Parts: sequence; structure tokens; C-alpha cells
Amino acid sequence: MKFFVDTADTKEIADLAATGLLDGVTTNPSLIHKSGRSFLEVVAEICKIVPGPVSAEVVALDHETMMKEAAVLRKIAGNVAIKVPLTLDGLKTCKKLSDDGVKVNVTLCFSANQALLAAKAGAAFISPFVGRHDDYGLDGMQLIADIRLIYDNYDFDTEILVASVRHPIHVLESARIGADVMTAPPAVIRALFKHPLTDKGIEGFMADWAKTGQSII
Ligand code: E4P
Repeated sequence: MKFFVDTADTKEIADLAATGLLDGVTTNPSLIHKSGRSFLEVVAEICKIVPGPVSAEVVALDHETMMKEAAVLRKIAGNVAIKVPLTLDGLKTCKKLSDDGVKVNVTLCFSANQALLAAKAGAAFISPFVGRHDDYGLDGMQLIADIRLIYDNYDFDTEILVASVRHPIHVLESARIGADVMTAPPAVIRALFKHPLTDKGIEGFMADWAKTGQSII
């Protein structure tokens, strides 16, 4: 499963990219607002840090303006993936851009039928929002399982990009189901490295090593 980080904080991105475990980045208008920076500048900076796809979202709601915004975003770097909302105009834009060889991430997906439409429109990625789904008392991970089944039934190439990930269990379940990608905030990715028994084990080994009085270098 590929790991994308869901943030516009370039320091965090650079730090996580240094682990070699980061395959891409997703941003959205709220994350850009949170960064307090210029959208185009921040995307350009991220594209230099991470070679994988960097999702940059259009903000227009009509197809024609979406296409114009996508043209601006595409010029930033070769690894920009255009993010469009799962609406009729968004999927029209997805089809047009995908036919033109552009990677499109269809976002704000909340049903398996929507995911089916996105795949038919040639999306490179579909982003079902599991956390927001759970917030409504629905089962976000069941949505991922349904999309996996449907995409496998028809051999769709569209990658399932699990979004709105809130905790490590979402990551674990995504991997169990066989999602292609998950995107999570930096804190969730950092939490994946942690286990209290790892910390306790290190503590014990360090204490005993100190008693040997030796050093390796
Ligand atoms: C993904 O592309 C979205 O930007 C993101 O995962 C949304 O997450 P949220 O529901 O925590 O805002």
C-alpha cells in the first residue's frame, strides 16, 4: 500500500520524505488555508520534495473553469495530480483530463456508486473519505471494501486512495482490504511507528548496554 501524507506543511513533508516511505502528497483548500501560504507556491515546493503524485485541488464548480484552473496547476510540475470533486462537472473534467494523459484524483467520494462513476471517467485515484463517513454513523471501511470488490469485478485501474484517515486502525483496515493508497495527516503516520513495547524494549536494552561499559564506535 502506498503512503501519501495529507498536509500542506512543507516542513512535515520534508521530514517524512526523509524516511523514504512517502509515495505522494494530498492537499485540499482547507489545508492550504491552514498553511497560510500561497497555493501555487506551496504546491511547487511540495512537488520538488516528493517525486510521487501531489494532489492539487481545483476550486471552481463548473467544468469550463475547472479546466482553466487545471491548466494552471498542471504547469507547476510534472507530478501534479489534479483533484476534482465528485460532481457531474468534476467527472466531466476528470474524463477530459484523463483522456489527455493527466492523473486525476476524484475527491469527496462517499458511496461505491460514486466510485464506479469516477473509474468510468478514467480517474487515476478515487478518494473515499472514511473518517467523515464514520462521523455520520456509517461504516467508512465497508465503503472501501465495497469499492475494492467493484473495481476488482471490472478490472478498473483506478487506485483506491483512502482519505480522511483519522487513526492507525483506518490504516490497518485499508491494508487488510487491499486499498492501493492511504493518505493520512502527519500525526497518524508518525503514530504508526510507535508501540509501547518497542519503547520499553529499547529502555531495557539501553540500561543493560550501559552496564557493560562498552561502545560500538
Ligand atoms: C484527502 O485528500 C482529503 O484532503 C482529506 O483526507 C480530508 O480529511 P478530513 O476529513 O480529515 O478533512
